[in-house]
Amino acid sequence: MCGIVGYIGKKNALQIILDGLQRLEYRGYDSAGVSIINDNKELITYKKKGKVSELAENIDINLFAGSVGIGHTRWATHGVPNDVNAHPQFDMDEKIALVHNGIIENYKTLKTMLQNEGYVFRSDTDTEVLTNLINYHYKSKKDLETAVRFALNEVDGTYGIACISSFEPDKIIAARKGSPLMLGIGIEEIIIGSDASAIINHTKNVIYLEDGEMCVLTKHGFQLKTIKDEDIFREIEEIEFDLQEIEKSGYDHFMLKEICEQPETIQNTYRGRINFETGVVKLGGLESIKDKIVNAKRIIITACGTSWHAGLIGEYLIEQMCRIPVEVDYASEFRYRDPVINEGDIMVVISQSGETADTLAALREAKKKGAVTVGLVNVVGSTIAREVDAGTYIHAGPEIGVASSKAFTSQVMSLILLALMIAGEKKTLSDDELKRIANDLKTLPEKIKKCVEAKDDYKFIADELKSASNFLYLGRGLNFPVALEGALKLKEISYIHAEGYPAAEMKHGPIALIDENMPVVIIAPKDKTYDKIISNIEEVKARKGKILAIASEEDNNINDYADFVIRVPKTFNLFAPIINNIPLQFLAYYIATARGCNVDQPRNLAKSVTVE
Ligand code: F6R
Repeated sequence: MCGIVGYIGKKNALQIILDGLQRLEYRGYDSAGVSIINDNKELITYKKKGKVSELAENIDINLFAGSVGIGHTRWATHGVPNDVNAHPQFDMDEKIALVHNGIIENYKTLKTMLQNEGYVFRSDTDTEVLTNLINYHYKSKKDLETAVRFALNEVDGTYGIACISSFEPDKIIAARKGSPLMLGIGIEEIIIGSDASAIINHTKNVIYLEDGEMCVLTKHGFQLKTIKDEDIFREIEEIEFDLQEIEKSGYDHFMLKEICEQPETIQNTYRGRINFETGVVKLGGLESIKDKIVNAKRIIITACGTSWHAGLIGEYLIEQMCRIPVEVDYASEFRYRDPVINEGDIMVVISQSGETADTLAALREAKKKGAVTVGLVNVVGSTIAREVDAGTYIHAGPEIGVASSKAFTSQVMSLILLALMIAGEKKTLSDDELKRIANDLKTLPEKIKKCVEAKDDYKFIADELKSASNFLYLGRGLNFPVALEGALKLKEISYIHAEGYPAAEMKHGPIALIDENMPVVIIAPKDKTYDKIISNIEEVKARKGKILAIASEEDNNINDYADFVIRVPKTFNLFAPIINNIPLQFLAYYIATARGCNVDQPRNLAKSVTVE
């Protein structure tokens, strides 16, 4: 949510910042801007409503020559997206420019104080208040670092910031509290980024800023401190992925690339973690608290959005396979309902980005109340990954498409591994069952590949259904969350209204919506609920609804009932949510592209929601 880039070194800052902003655009894309200290040591800014590409097309490159600068791509919180509210924001004297990700919660109080001191404001943003507050302190302290420090000690809320000033033109000051920020340490240059994608093509050596820390960057190096002015030493870490992983590699969209990558990403999730001879699972990151997990009295899973859907699948898996009661909570609700945490409770936190503010708040609340916390996170080194007691990375690789796809299937895979680990230790599954599951897992990537290869069939169906205004998605058991996820994907990227329901719930209300214009996507595996699902299909057909069934390969019956059928390879029940989800991702993708929607950057959304 909002992307920040900064550069200080010997090269032309503008191009590096624009490239970084392009890569960070998935974090927000309603406006963008850059500020540079030019060769005359003046602070110059260009910012604009719209995409980074529009900024890049319109900026006068010659005017913006300089080797110190900051840039921002915005997801609006305070103030509508327009040129004035775009970042960088400046102080009243236009001497200080600042980019900010997060929310200054006490901005109104601070603004009133500053207005009483004669400060005038141009924008509706909370960020402008911070720039004037820095200006206010600079007037008495005559030192930029001190002025920023004083200002940060007065603000409540969250921030990742980078700030430059013509008062002290050879430095950048960066700080973080609640919004991610990292430094890429190159040779005679430092790049600041909200995440590694802005940095990776310059260096793999990074330093993650922690909450309450700030950093003063000059052309000669950097100094890390707390905002209370205590020195800090931090080891440099290495980014684990390569540039090509964050490029489109010939695909039309990142989302399409990420959907198609799933035969490999799923293997990356389980590789080295399961013994295929015995079915025994070992999750290195959880070893330190394995006994606590295995002996948990209750497991609470918390997450948001797609990750929450994965959590619902986790509930079915863990209860069935491990016989431990599981609750799944929306992270955004968890901390506001004074939840009961008892001794022996384990909280599993699921997050692709590892930065989602609601999920982080739920994690902190659970820790405060004494829960042992486990993270299933994709982004290495992210805040959630660092704050949980123990965790296991899902290893889906960088996910750039705003709508989550490969991270979802890897989250489900991680939950399967977690359930297998517990079940193996608790002996709630027999050795034979574990072996059979491991055997079936071996075939899973090939089955996912088969689904990916059938993408033209899904495209054909998408073309047939693309004009509908509403969709219903139905599934039972493990496939109910798959229905929810299918509906969410369609809503997010095609702006078609879609609802997911447990299939049997349809008759308790949603059936009223069904008419000849309503496609119903129904997940119909050949399992013990099959006859019931067929009855649900008949109920829809009786009301002239159109049925798209996701059915097993060996189902010879389904064509008699459904208008469209997508066949998926037969698999063990516990892997079915992964297999059944793939066609639904494609369906949403092809419907959205047929409707001309920008699937990688759906309106109003941003990857990594770092505000509550
Ligand atoms: C949907 C989507 C969101 C995220 C949610 C949680 O496609 O991407 O619903 O799943 O914002 O994000 P993470 O997993 O990063 O915590």
